[in-house]
Amino acid sequence: MAEPIIELKDVSFSAQDREIVQHTSLQFEEGITTALVGPSGEGKSTVLKLAAGLLVPSGGAVFFRGKNMAAMNRAQNMAFRQEGAVVFQDSALWANQDLFQCLELPLKIHFPNMKAEDRKARIAEVVKEVGYTKDVHVRPAMLSMGEQKLIAFARAMLCRPGLLFLDEWTESLDDTAAKRLIGLVKKLQAEQKTIIFVSHDLRIIKNLADIIITIAGGQPGLIVTKDQLVENENLSEIIESGVALGGIP
Ligand SMILES: Nc1ncnc2c1ncn2[C@@H]1O[C@H](COP(=O)(O)OP(=O)(O)OP(=O)(O)O)[C@@H](O)[C@H]1O
Ligand SMILES: [Mg+2]
Repeated sequence: MAEPIIELKDVSFSAQDREIVQHTSLQFEEGITTALVGPSGEGKSTVLKLAAGLLVPSGGAVFFRGKNMAAMNRAQNMAFRQEGAVVFQDSALWANQDLFQCLELPLKIHFPNMKAEDRKARIAEVVKEVGYTKDVHVRPAMLSMGEQKLIAFARAMLCRPGLLFLDEWTESLDDTAAKRLIGLVKKLQAEQKTIIFVSHDLRIIKNLADIIITIAGGQPGLIVTKDQLVENENLSEIIESGVALGGIP
């Protein structure tokens, strides 16, 4: 089997004296879409952030293409940051910047020689792709939660990522907006990008995921392929209810 693009090896993570993730090992294959599913508060976002290198494990290690993230130098880290993009569950736009500035910063960091007019053109392009049609010179607080999600998604697309971490990325969106983002994800899948997403929406999970991993107590429970999900109706129920420990029924 090919080397996984991201691997968690015996990873633990503690916050405020609580172990949220304990000795978790997980592999994510390149070019594959993986969905992390499960009940609220069970560690999906934490596992996703660990995989994205945004949280530092208190035990074990996370590897990107076989390289321990904790041992990556600045150049390797920047390359990883450019290849991997994140849509946070709460969108996480910078409150004190307008949307244009929020979108311009990653381009300035990753493409320091890019001309201002080219940045402007790229921002206009991603904003159009996600279907945001209003003013970009307003602060995030002026936007609905759904609109913030669209801008967060646009920010993730800016540097043409090869690896996407999407946390509850269709939450707060109306059907049309959600369909548009699903279309963008399908396009990325056709380009063999790697996508790791968290969702509670069974339709989206069934539509997009090659592999579904249930998370409970910060641990993977079931690991199910798309075909198994189609063939076994019980699995849909299990994934939808979030009760996901034990074997495949
Ligand atoms: N920085 C933190 N400090 C303290 N506790 C935290 C922190 N981050 C997460 N937790 C706790 O860890 C547990 C898992 O949180 P996490 O956000 O990963 O869950 P989730 O599965 O993504 O939930 P949801 O479906 O509601 O988004 C929760 O009980 C949460 O309160
Ligand atoms: Mg979450």
